[in-house]
Amino acid sequence: MNKGLIFSAILACSCAVGLGGTANAADKGPAEMTLQATVDPATTPKPAQFPHGAHQARLECGACHHGKGEDGKRVAYVEGQKIEKCETCHNSKAGMPEKINTFKNAAHALCKDCHAKAKDKPELVKCTTCHKK
Ligand code: HEC
Ligand code: HEC
Ligand code: HEC
Ligand code: HEC
Repeated sequence: MNKGLIFSAILACSCAVGLGGTANAADKGPAEMTLQATVDPATTPKPAQFPHGAHQARLECGACHHGKGEDGKRVAYVEGQKIEKCETCHNSKAGMPEKINTFKNAAHALCKDCHAKAKDKPELVKCTTCHKK
């Protein structure tokens, strides 16, 4: 084995250790996200800004994330579960109740409802809080 090979072997090894460490820690997803419907997009796309990390600092993951059981009912979040995009389940083809039958409706039901409860911060319900322009 020449020196180059030994070096790449060490590099590959430390990389694998690094990756293993990340995979073991809970995947928190990105701290800043721009949300945009792809299955049921509006004629004029209206992306929404979402400071995921700032919300994680205040809320349990299960305040927003959940799963779906074989009976089609909502299953409460359990730590380490697979986190799917909202639109995987909340889209116009999935036969959900109207209030949550698209990404827009499900997101408004979750995001806007909670923002409306923060009576000391009335600006939170404004469209421009999430839709910057
Ligand atoms: C608390 C955050 C929040 C507020 C406030 C909010 N929205 Fe949204 N809205 C979202 C999210 C998240 C989505 C889903 C992602 C997307 O499709 O843009 C969405 C989707 C939409 C869509 C579909 C856009 C698309 O590209 O598919 C429209 C239209 C929309 N909102 C209009 C409004 C209007 C009008 C208001 C104010 C009356 C408003 N929203 C207030 C978060 C918000
Ligand atoms: C205030 C609501 C909220 C809270 C609290 C929250 N999330 Fe999220 N998270 C979201 C939304 C919305 C998305 C974007 C889903 C989509 O793109 O359809 C998301 C996406 C993710 C993703 C996937 C990223 C991707 O692009 O595939 C992971 C992983 C994730 N969250 C982990 C967590 C964990 C772990 C916690 C708790 C520490 C948490 N989230 C707390 C709302 C939340
Ligand atoms: C694996 C499928 C699945 C994913 C992914 C999913 N949901 Fe749901 N969600 C459901 C089911 C099933 C229900 C219950 C529907 C019913 O009552 O008929 C539900 C209910 C809801 C409700 C109604 C109130 C409640 O809590 O029961 C809201 C709001 C909601 N989801 C928003 C979201 C948002 C926002 C995301 C992404 C962060 C998301 N969901 C991701 C399956 C899913
Ligand atoms: C359970 C409650 C709750 C949910 C659910 C929630 N938020 Fe928030 N959000 C808050 C609160 C409270 C603040 C204000 C924090 C502060 O000012 O200290 C906030 C702040 C924000 C801000 C920053 C406003 C600013 O300019 O400072 C944005 C953008 C935002 N939320 C978008 C969203 C989106 C998009 C969703 C849904 C994917 C969402 N939020 C879901 C409670 C919530």
